[in-house]
Amino acid sequence: MKKIVIVGTGYVGLVTGVCLAEIGYNIWCLDIDNDKIDKLSNGDCPFFEPELKELLYKNKNKLFFTTNYKDVFDNAEIVFICVGTPEKEDGSANLEYIYSVCDNLCESLKNNCTVVIKSTVPIGTNDLVEEYFRKNLVNDIEIKVVSNPEFLSQGSAIKDTLKAPRIIVGSDCMETNEMMYELYKPFTKEPYNIPYLSMSRRSAEMVKYASNNFLALKISFINEIANFCETINADIDDVTNGMKYDERIGKHFLRAGIGYGGSCFPKDTKALHYISKINNEEIITVRSAIEVNKNQKIKLFKKIKEDYKNLKGLKVAVLGCSFKPKTEDLRESPSIDNIKLLLEEGCRVSAYDPFVLALNNLKQTFSNQINYYNNIDECIKDVDLALIITEHHEIVEYDLNKYIKYMRKPVIYDGRNCYSLDMVDKYKINYTSIGRRKIIKF
Ligand code: UGA
Repeated sequence: MKKIVIVGTGYVGLVTGVCLAEIGYNIWCLDIDNDKIDKLSNGDCPFFEPELKELLYKNKNKLFFTTNYKDVFDNAEIVFICVGTPEKEDGSANLEYIYSVCDNLCESLKNNCTVVIKSTVPIGTNDLVEEYFRKNLVNDIEIKVVSNPEFLSQGSAIKDTLKAPRIIVGSDCMETNEMMYELYKPFTKEPYNIPYLSMSRRSAEMVKYASNNFLALKISFINEIANFCETINADIDDVTNGMKYDERIGKHFLRAGIGYGGSCFPKDTKALHYISKINNEEIITVRSAIEVNKNQKIKLFKKIKEDYKNLKGLKVAVLGCSFKPKTEDLRESPSIDNIKLLLEEGCRVSAYDPFVLALNNLKQTFSNQINYYNNIDECIKDVDLALIITEHHEIVEYDLNKYIKYMRKPVIYDGRNCYSLDMVDKYKINYTSIGRRKIIKF
């Protein structure tokens, strides 16, 4: 069996490692974060992701964790790079973590090796990385670089990997391509049956950007349609329902709301826009998606401002802090933008999230400027307004009677259209959502 090393134990790296172990491989997972590796070595998961803990436990005899690259790189045969590529000030992707892994590999590798880049990188990076190895390897060996973009979503990462719609492998070498196919072969067979597509490295890199940007575009498009529905008295739920029957449009990613967040769409839209611009081929649709999203994220705040004019002293409950349900991740979440604006206006803010870690992360930004709750009842007690930011199960299922019971006056601004208008209409609640008529009861 080939020695497989995964570098980076974030969502992409850890899930890849665990799923490769699930189909039978022994996997060495490397990370520079001691805490994470300690937790993993003790059988704990460093972050919440459905099914991950169970699969980690199930495959514990095939997974090995370390912080020391020297332990694992010298005789590695396949190395997956799954480190972050965060956004720089100008929107371009920061590749310093990728190159830092390459430096360690250059120093340690003793045998020929295939380096698989799973991190999202600008088109052409795989070529540059292969060239970098050629120039900087200490030993006389050959490194082949393969692009193997990742398409998992936080909150459904295991399912997205074991039931992936496709595996994309970009390689410019026939032999490496065959080796990658052999590696992934179990996933192409029962019970997984995942289609395997091979192509050039640049095309593979582009598939990743094109896919994420298309999804971001779809969201920004439907959000603009929702905003327009409000102007012309149409209902976005009916509109998207009507659209979904057309298979060419598809039924996914048409949920209107307060925009996309997370560690992927915001960064990848800006990165693709940046690359297109510096290549004198600016992708204007992507620029528009970014612009629309920037405004959409503060849509609830704007609606409140229109309704109240002076917000000073208002007590506001922010329900949901993470950028989407089933994750404690706060990166680029609209909760942050809206809380900042509310505080600037002199509001008193309380925030709820079912994930304690999400609240702890929020504390790093707002410390004692706001109050934190992991119980909705407490969070909305005596407040003037409730803002729904994340469609967490606990929020969607929350009894509307309780808003009446606990709030000073039941006024809800729902950024994720959690409740049907027919349902809200039965209560004495003022309710504003996205792309639908306002309900005013008092
Ligand atoms: C996204 C992609 O969906 C994955 O395929 C990709 O692999 C991943 O980025 C990545 O590049 O690593 P993720 O960011 O985890 O995954 O989450 P999504 O479920 O795509 O949601 C992103 C944002 O879009 C969330 O803020 C969500 O609330 C918003 N969204 C999604 C909508 O506003 N409307 C929708 O209809 C769908």
